[in-house]
Amino acid sequence: MDIQGAGAIVVGGASGMARATARDLAQHGAKVVIFDLPKSKGAEVAEEIGGGTQFFPLDIMDEAAVESTIEKAVQALGGLHIGVNVAGWGWAQRTITRDGPHPLDPFRKVMEINVVATFNLIRLQAHHMSKNTPNADGERGVILCTSSIAAYEGQIGQAAYSASKAAVAGMMLPIARDLGSLGIRCNAIAPSLFDTGLIAPLPDQMKSALIEDAAFPRRMGKPEEYARLARAIIENPMLNGGTIRLDAGQRFRPK
Ligand SMILES: NC(=O)c1ccc[n+]([C@@H]2O[C@H](COP(=O)([O-])OP(=O)(O)OC[C@H]3O[C@@H](n4cnc5c(N)ncnc54)[C@H](O)[C@@H]3O)[C@@H](O)[C@H]2O)c1
Repeated sequence: MDIQGAGAIVVGGASGMARATARDLAQHGAKVVIFDLPKSKGAEVAEEIGGGTQFFPLDIMDEAAVESTIEKAVQALGGLHIGVNVAGWGWAQRTITRDGPHPLDPFRKVMEINVVATFNLIRLQAHHMSKNTPNADGERGVILCTSSIAAYEGQIGQAAYSASKAAVAGMMLPIARDLGSLGIRCNAIAPSLFDTGLIAPLPDQMKSALIEDAAFPRRMGKPEEYARLARAIIENPMLNGGTIRLDAGQRFRPK
């Protein structure tokens, strides 16, 4: 998919990996709309990126608002070709603790945001992309989601988070197959530890311990590195239905 002139929605774009991706896509000629929470710095980020980047405040847990906000964004963009879904949430708790079993509410909430809300974005983005005129290669759009290497090597306390990120990885192939006849691809990136979100403010000593199992480079990933892989996936029509690890060879230990 040619990024120049394409319409792109970047979900979670006020911060971290999504913010870097929104910037990278805009620098490569895409028209970009950022979705993020109303309390986020989305408006400032959109202005800083420039090139006509717009911010639409949205909580992706609000099903009705997601539908109407995507509709408005597609109108503003004049068509949707790229959907980048990064917003997500985590929870850490052992299956059983001294206080009793893991409560179900946070488990459900993690599944609700990381799986159900992500699928809601995918199905609505695909619906709009299906109306596009295909390019010379038959492509109408590309959807990119965010898994985690915790999908494969979940650590102690990560039952809910790992289950949700494994679900993201697991739905890429069936969705790619569902959308194949329409020329719409669907892939995910599974990052290891990136210097964003909740991780960024941690002391350096704690960060070093978290990445000591990486093969090389032994450091946190940079948001721009996620953005570079996102662009490679968008541009390469042979990448479809999979989840690509972006992890410097790291495999999480049990804890
Ligand atoms: N940082 C890491 O080490 C790491 C590793 C693997 C996977 N991930 C995944 O990456 C994603 C987070 O990206 P990041 O690390 O760049 O984080 P980040 O906190 O910098 O950015 C996430 C953005 O998503 C937005 N967001 C959160 N909930 C939302 C909601 N309900 N509606 C709309 N927007 C919402 C936040 O406001 C924020 O701007 C998550 O899906 C996370 O599971 C992160």
